[in-house]
Amino acid sequence: MKHLIDIKDLTVEEIDELIKVAKDIMQFPDNYTEKCKHKKLATLFFEPSTRTRLSFETAMLDLGGNVIGFSEASSSSASKGESVSDTIRIVGGYADIIAMRHPKEGAPLVASLKSTVPIINAGDGGHNHPTQTLTDLLTISCEKNRLDNLTIGLCGDLKFGRTVHSLITAMVRYKNIKFVLISPDELKIPEYIKENILEKNNIEYIETNSLEEHIGELDILYMTRVQKERFFNEEDYVRLKDYYILDKNKLEKAREDLSILHPLPRVNEISTEVDDDPRACYFKQARNGKFIRMALILKLLNIGGNK
Ligand code: NCD
Repeated sequence: MKHLIDIKDLTVEEIDELIKVAKDIMQFPDNYTEKCKHKKLATLFFEPSTRTRLSFETAMLDLGGNVIGFSEASSSSASKGESVSDTIRIVGGYADIIAMRHPKEGAPLVASLKSTVPIINAGDGGHNHPTQTLTDLLTISCEKNRLDNLTIGLCGDLKFGRTVHSLITAMVRYKNIKFVLISPDELKIPEYIKENILEKNNIEYIETNSLEEHIGELDILYMTRVQKERFFNEEDYVRLKDYYILDKNKLEKAREDLSILHPLPRVNEISTEVDDDPRACYFKQARNGKFIRMALILKLLNIGGNK
């Protein structure tokens, strides 16, 4: 049995295969409508979500399966003091596969040690978010037709932004990837990512706080929200929340073939005037999330992807 806790749980070949299956599902959705008949997905969300939970649930429904779960800790027995391990043991008796989001880093890993069914990490605190990364990789592959030879700008909250941590971890395995890490000093990428992932793999990167200075070099600009819920005090959040606002004016310096990604939700960091720019890919990206999660469910349940 396989879980997806960290994006490194998948080899590059497995990711390529997931992307291939997701593209096939996009093209021939009718071939997949009964693949998960009589299977159940449980979505256990101890933290808020719109896209991740609903795309997981729609993914299972579009595969012909069923969905159970909860969308807030307060409506589960966690509010009575039940441990994650116990909750997982119980839910594993009802469902064939579990997608779980939790505010504590490492909670899905703990859950996977006790689980009798595959566990998918749907975001753990400020740590990892591997299925968002699969969504990002599918989007980059659709937009650029490659996952190598890319200069990727990551902008915003690189400290608490779990999608950024997982995306870097995934991308360092492809050839000729460069990163431009754009953040205020207080929200720089954690040291462990620099040391254990970027430097260990000899990846070229720079750290800067200027988006304007570097926007013209980028193939991908990955904007992120300042993660309000992970701040210790409101004052710091208020000071940093509008540090970057991507607007038409800033995009004048960007390349024609730039792809703008954002895991969403957006707050102020991308002005709505950018939404109609052909370089804006974030709504397509959110849509892609469903297809790659369909491919992932099939893989973890050992159900053949093709007809
Ligand atoms: C992200 C998350 O939950 O980490 N959202 C998502 O899953 N698409 C990004 C965020 O909340 O800022």
